[in-house]
Amino acid sequence: MKSDEKRILIMGIESSCDETAVAVVVNGSRILSNLVASQVDIHARYGGVVPEIASRRHLELINQLIDDALRSARVNLHELQALAVSYGPGLVGALLVGVATAKALAYAARLPLVAVNHIEAHFYANMLTGTPVAYPLVVLIASGGHTELLLYRRPAEPELLGQTRDDAAGEVFDKVARALKLGYPGGPLIDRLAKSGNPEAIAFPRAYLDEASRYDFSFSGLKSAVINYLHHRQQKGEPVNLPDLTASFQAAVIEVLVEKTICAARDHGAATVLLAGGVAANSLLRRNMGERLAQELPGTPLRFPPRELCTDNAAMIAAAAYPLYQAGRFASLDLNAVPGLTAGSGAAKT
Ligand code: KG4
Ligand code: ZN
Repeated sequence: MKSDEKRILIMGIESSCDETAVAVVVNGSRILSNLVASQVDIHARYGGVVPEIASRRHLELINQLIDDALRSARVNLHELQALAVSYGPGLVGALLVGVATAKALAYAARLPLVAVNHIEAHFYANMLTGTPVAYPLVVLIASGGHTELLLYRRPAEPELLGQTRDDAAGEVFDKVARALKLGYPGGPLIDRLAKSGNPEAIAFPRAYLDEASRYDFSFSGLKSAVINYLHHRQQKGEPVNLPDLTASFQAAVIEVLVEKTICAARDHGAATVLLAGGVAANSLLRRNMGERLAQELPGTPLRFPPRELCTDNAAMIAAAAYPLYQAGRFASLDLNAVPGLTAGSGAAKT
């Protein structure tokens, strides 16, 4: 950073699902602190997130986390230039904890408030590595709650190309893992198990949909096919080869994610292709996307965040807030949580 460049310190707050997170980031790209208190252990015994429990836990954790994030960044509240909060999509009770906390702090410390779309924020995890990205770009955002293909012709203006019509990619990983009694969250467990299986052992369906929906996704048919296969084997008393089953399932999800992303990148002349969201931690997705891109669009770089920044965190919220801060796009103190917020809908409705 040049010495005359202004240092914009933004605190990000994230509470949309089962991670309570607070971070302090400089100029949208350099992390000073990034704390995530995961509730995975609490929800694991139920096989998924229990909204009421998530909200209560956020309330218990958030104030302490804010203090800790400031302390570990070695800054005080009054040195910040803005407070950023994820206001949707997500679980309404969970989102409200972050939104109410950010509003109270913004009011008390007289700081501007920036409202961040959680889905779009996943993309900004890629900005935290310090390497600039070339536009236009196509980003696949795949996580437990969402699966979207976004086009950015220029910074901070996402256009929604396509999204899932039913389950999100991470959600099918979680549901299949649950049916196989593997545990929660399912993505990392299946990723690991599949490494020793044969991805061609079982031919599971891939939904490419019709031409008009070529950027949309549908995973519910695949999920049903896996569960039907499992029941069928169990009814006949036949053993299930877990590595083969998980490898075949994973190959089906990843193939569709890869091919649709490449198709969008080709159609829009993307200068960069990016992955984001929890599923971007998947090793097969990272490998296959890189390989297919090199074959189909040689020279187009693939970027993805380090694993810890793929899943929900607050550094990505602070990074996403930086261009909004620069553009003066602030939220008012009557900001509300918007659980059904979609990506690519333009500036935060403030
Ligand atoms: O981004 P994230 O933390 O939360 C949402 O915003 O939804 O994503 C969590 C999701 C879970 O569904 C989890 O199973 C999935 O990301 N996930 C993975 C992997 N690591 C996490 N899916 C596939 N492979 C992985 N290695
Ligand atoms: Zn997320």
